[in-house]
Amino acid sequence: MHIGILTSGGDCPGLNAAIRAIGKAAQDSYGMQVTGFLNGFRGLAQDQTMELDARLLSGILTYGGTILGTSRDKPHRMLIGGKTRDMTEAIVGTYHHHQLDALVCLGGGGTQKNALRLKQAGLNVVTLPKTIDNDIALTDQSFGFDTAVSIATDAIDRLHSTAISHNRIIVVEVMGHRAGWLALEAGIAGGADVILLPEIPYDVGQVAEAIRERTRKGKHFSIVVVAEGAMSKADAERVGKLAEQKRSAKSEADKQKVSNKLQKFHDGHVDHTINLTRHLEELTQQESRLTILGHLQRGGTPSAADRVLATRLGTTCAEVLNNKKYGVMLAIQNERIGAVPLEEVVRKKKFVPIDHPLITAARLVGTRFGD
Ligand code: F6P
Repeated sequence: MHIGILTSGGDCPGLNAAIRAIGKAAQDSYGMQVTGFLNGFRGLAQDQTMELDARLLSGILTYGGTILGTSRDKPHRMLIGGKTRDMTEAIVGTYHHHQLDALVCLGGGGTQKNALRLKQAGLNVVTLPKTIDNDIALTDQSFGFDTAVSIATDAIDRLHSTAISHNRIIVVEVMGHRAGWLALEAGIAGGADVILLPEIPYDVGQVAEAIRERTRKGKHFSIVVVAEGAMSKADAERVGKLAEQKRSAKSEADKQKVSNKLQKFHDGHVDHTINLTRHLEELTQQESRLTILGHLQRGGTPSAADRVLATRLGTTCAEVLNNKKYGVMLAIQNERIGAVPLEEVVRKKKFVPIDHPLITAARLVGTRFGD
């Protein structure tokens, strides 16, 4: 068999461990030829390849990033020479030109959707779940998440000591636009006083009151961990209304108008944590500082747990390919690796349920969520 591999979407630690696992198992145990496509779906559209031989697969287990490169390009909407084009036909052409038997796509939620599109275009696809956001449906965990939790926790630990020295509020923004898993786990591990998640709209007055209450108890510093997609109750209501308008739009033009408004809101939301920090300083009269962890959370060496998960998913992927089972994402559920149909994965983000045991545990140790 001849298989292709690509990595798509935002990078994360563990991608190389997964490429290595798929490649080694495919070559050594099943005698397959393995070709890498560069820079996500773009490499497939423009036929940019890298032969993943034993030499290239060796020594990459601990490397961050992806040796294949990645991009957020979508097969059906790709910027080529300044124009947005549907490259599905070109992708199908490259697949057949290389006489591939299957294509493995490593990525997050968007990649799962794009892989399904290619399945519908007639290709044999299999996917693996990666994202530091841990928001892909039907898998308990995605690789990259464990490492990002450790990086964010380490940062919170370091910020704690400086917050204590200066009697300050330190707001720490972590990644997670729609789902708050990273903020929740790193916040708990780092002993955050307040955690703000996209799933629990907050009232800034409540956050300020939680901080003032700490001061009254003699604790003159506070750590506020904020997911980048966290929203005030007023903003959440606005977004909720727009989302409803989009769902019930009568024409494509109306839908587009609402989408533009939503986009404008999200574009403006990038300043959200800066404004929140200022607002908290005003309300509490306590000096406040903001740290945005950003892409630090996606870089560097994968944790042991991510290496193990990527290796388990990758080797099972080779086994699944050998059994000619296609149109599935490899997933971990209750400690077991299995295959789930792509149709069931897409359009189902895994959000933090507001009654999740981790939220209960955090509340029981006195952490506030601003609600
Ligand atoms: O991969 C998901 C994610 O980590 C989000 O949490 C974050 O908002 C996004 O990537 C940013 O990615 P980029 O800057 O690469 O577009």
